[in-house]
Amino acid sequence: MSKQFAVIGNPIKQSRSPELHQAFAAKTGVNLTYTKRLAPLDGFTANIQEFFAQGGIGMNVTVPFKEQAFAQCQVLTERAKIAKAVNTLWMKDGILHGDNTDGQGLVEAIRALDWTLENTDILIIGAGGATRGVIYPLVQAGVKKIVIANRTLSRAEQLVADLKDAVPQAELQAIALTDLAGEFDIVINATSASLSGDALVLPEALQFKHAYEMTYGKPSTFLDQAQARGVPTSEGFGMLVGQAIESFYIWNGVKPELKDFL
Ligand code: ATR
Repeated sequence: MSKQFAVIGNPIKQSRSPELHQAFAAKTGVNLTYTKRLAPLDGFTANIQEFFAQGGIGMNVTVPFKEQAFAQCQVLTERAKIAKAVNTLWMKDGILHGDNTDGQGLVEAIRALDWTLENTDILIIGAGGATRGVIYPLVQAGVKKIVIANRTLSRAEQLVADLKDAVPQAELQAIALTDLAGEFDIVINATSASLSGDALVLPEALQFKHAYEMTYGKPSTFLDQAQARGVPTSEGFGMLVGQAIESFYIWNGVKPELKDFL
């Protein structure tokens, strides 16, 4: 019988996880089925219990359930504890385990672009869950300084206060979005501005060598401005593939090559 996997969210129709995991399975010879599960907003726990009771092996978790998944797990990886969010679940000996592969997905996507992370200075715009999830993996990958710029400065300051002990080998700094300036190796847009069709302004005082937009398939004023400067850019499809590869690896013990799926 094939191994059962699923992604749970609300909404879930848009999820590309099934097609990615089926493509990894075809490439690696793993026999699996991977379905989408729409849970009501108050029905997350019942849904995952049913899935695992029926012999399910692993689940991906997407919006808006990543924090609930974090709260449900009895065993968490270090990076999930720091992210305070879980996107990958599995059951082992009746105990629910959770990990967060989003940050490593970004690291793998950036490596696949051949952009260096070791000893770099990075600017992340945004201070929500997306930013929280990537700080620790970026520092583990060798980033030496991360500046977090946010429209609401206090949120960036809170994030720095929360995370600085988890990444003692790096410098973290919070600034207001209106104070964007300085020179960075990479600037990452982790805001939801592109999802809501809002513009972001990158002033001339801000210099950067590469630009990464975490969303994909949406018009992005962030990418437009970076491209106008002639720097290499990427949208976030690689991060999506990267986090899926990490989940697949946790569950199946084989790691597909990211570049094969871009
Ligand atoms: P996620 O979990 O995707 O990070 P979130 O927690 O809602 O989502 O965070 C969204 C981020 O995008 C926040 O940093 C938000 O800034 P505020 O903290 O000031 O709200 C940022 N954001 C959303 N729309 C924006 C816009 N139009 N301009 C700048 N920042 C924006």
